[in-house]
Amino acid sequence: MRIGVCYYPEHWPESMWEDDARRMKTLGIEQVRIAEFAWSRIEPTPGEYDWGWLDRAVDVLGAAGLAVVMCTPTATPPKWLIDRHPDILAVGADGRPRGFGSRRHYDFSSPAYFEASRRICAAVAERYGKHPAVAYWQTDNEFGCHHTVVSYSPAALVRFREWLKARYHTIQALNEAWGTVFWSMEYRSFDEIDAPVGTVTEAHPSHRLDYRRFASDEVARYNRMQVEIIRAHSPGRPVAHNFMQLFTEFDHYKVATDLDVAAWDSYPLGALEEQWFAPDIKARWLRSGHPDFASFNHDVYRGMSKLPFWVMEQQPGPVNWAQWNPAPLPGMVRLWSWEAFAHGAGCVSYFRWRQAPFAQEQMHAGLNTPDNRLDVGGKEASQVASDIRTVLAADAGANAAIRSKVALVYDYEAKWLFEIHPQGADFHYPRFAFEYYSALRALGLDVDVVPADASFDGYSLVVVPPLPVVPDDFAGRLARSGAQVVFGPRTGSKTRDLRIPANLPPGALTSVLPLRVWRVESLRPNVTEAVVLDQKSGAADGVARHWRDLIDSDASPALEVRARFADGHPAYVQSGAFHYFASLFDDALTVHLFARIAREAGLETQALGDSVRISRRGALTYVFNYGDQDHTLDNIPDDAFVIGSREVAPQGVAIYRS
Ligand code: GAL
Repeated sequence: MRIGVCYYPEHWPESMWEDDARRMKTLGIEQVRIAEFAWSRIEPTPGEYDWGWLDRAVDVLGAAGLAVVMCTPTATPPKWLIDRHPDILAVGADGRPRGFGSRRHYDFSSPAYFEASRRICAAVAERYGKHPAVAYWQTDNEFGCHHTVVSYSPAALVRFREWLKARYHTIQALNEAWGTVFWSMEYRSFDEIDAPVGTVTEAHPSHRLDYRRFASDEVARYNRMQVEIIRAHSPGRPVAHNFMQLFTEFDHYKVATDLDVAAWDSYPLGALEEQWFAPDIKARWLRSGHPDFASFNHDVYRGMSKLPFWVMEQQPGPVNWAQWNPAPLPGMVRLWSWEAFAHGAGCVSYFRWRQAPFAQEQMHAGLNTPDNRLDVGGKEASQVASDIRTVLAADAGANAAIRSKVALVYDYEAKWLFEIHPQGADFHYPRFAFEYYSALRALGLDVDVVPADASFDGYSLVVVPPLPVVPDDFAGRLARSGAQVVFGPRTGSKTRDLRIPANLPPGALTSVLPLRVWRVESLRPNVTEAVVLDQKSGAADGVARHWRDLIDSDASPALEVRARFADGHPAYVQSGAFHYFASLFDDALTVHLFARIAREAGLETQALGDSVRISRRGALTYVFNYGDQDHTLDNIPDDAFVIGSREVAPQGVAIYRS
């Protein structure tokens, strides 16, 4: 457990660097990330490198005892490079190249950019690969930020056709898989296939899904190129990438395979504002963020990180980029930091050391104000550093790995598929995955977020949010684990080629869930359907939203109907350890059902409500109070507390030996 910071020596006079480094160290900072946007200073004109300033910056940081995270600067190709190779610019769905003048204006498929990236990465890696102060690396910065995964450039089209050839081998196989006979869309060769854009009405869904799969693979290919170069010049130093919060536009599992550290950038207030949450929820958590939002991301990235995951950028105060940007409540920067450690983080690194008084992000707080005084976030970061010393002194095993009994399956293709084939405008996969996660957290359960091809051995409860395409051996792996398994609606509803399974949904899962979804319907946002549990009649126990799978439950006597919609259709069915929800239920009903199933799985649950959250790591239990009332921890002896006490104040953190 340690803290870090993001620093931009190129933004400040060199005369400030030593003092900055000294103050970082005094504050308790141990690692400093630099240079991710510094290409125009590293290579001011083609082929002429100016290493002097960066050498001195690295030396100053190293001399202060700080470990440097060196970045490749590829998120910001400089003007001269774009002017030389305009085809580096990605092309939008409107057919127009993106403009120079911000960042991420590159196309993952551009051969010119691939080459230029190779060259700059090799130059930086060669220069600093063995520098004693450089301990870690970061590739690029936030792949995909500002909608930059998919490009409709000629270069992307060339590579897409190759990708299709590798996947389908023959054009007949592609025609068959996609079903291009529909609307006379049959192709005679791969060279006839365009990007799925600009069509009169919706482009062919299989075509679109493959384009998304292709674009995702391009990100992985690009990152792998950088990682290989770094490893060749800097053996033994871990390589990270800073992913984004709840970002689903490429398959993060595939990119993370090539990394040592999956890091992510945590901006809980900006996220709350920008995500789907209803206005009352946004107002309720305005200055704290949603109690489960950062945690969900911690658990997503922990699962795919070989070394302990990091928060590479932690919100330190108001940000600049959401529609509205409130200031965090005092204490929240500390709370967010401890929540990351409680979920297994190895480092929490704040963005940024000092607020910039110029350019795009001048309204974004730093640990210091632009006049170089410690801001609230800076003071709280310093408190975190001192807390870490207390915790590690009290328990040398505090850095232990997390062991959860509950797994939540999280899948990137599911997001693309439901976006391409929504059948209901608000069928938003990340939201539904998050709502299941949130329900589990409200029960005090620690959760591992895992891919669909994970091993489920050792878990007592596996929750599968709507997963349209299930791997062939999914049912077998789940059954062998012995876990109770909950499936959300639409699970098993498509084949890999985006067809309805021959036996109807849930397709291959009928081996464990003998049912047949014979019809589906989507519900507009102001409509719900009552749900009644356990053969009762009368008052509803909750409501269903967004969607209904209409289930034929007569297929097998092994199938028990545990809840029905008001019109009699099954809402929740069970077969042995397998539970299927035919809709997305309201929060209270979801929590109630998960609690019941968790008990069947032999797990202990708590009723935490919506503002207190609990995590366990090693022998320590961490308690976070997001609410506005004190929370009292009963039955914990006073001498068990390492941080805080039985009274956990709003925005407070308590850590005790379990
Ligand atoms: C991140 C990005 C940083 C900075 C920050 C502002 O998305 O990686 O460079 O822009 O947001 O919150």
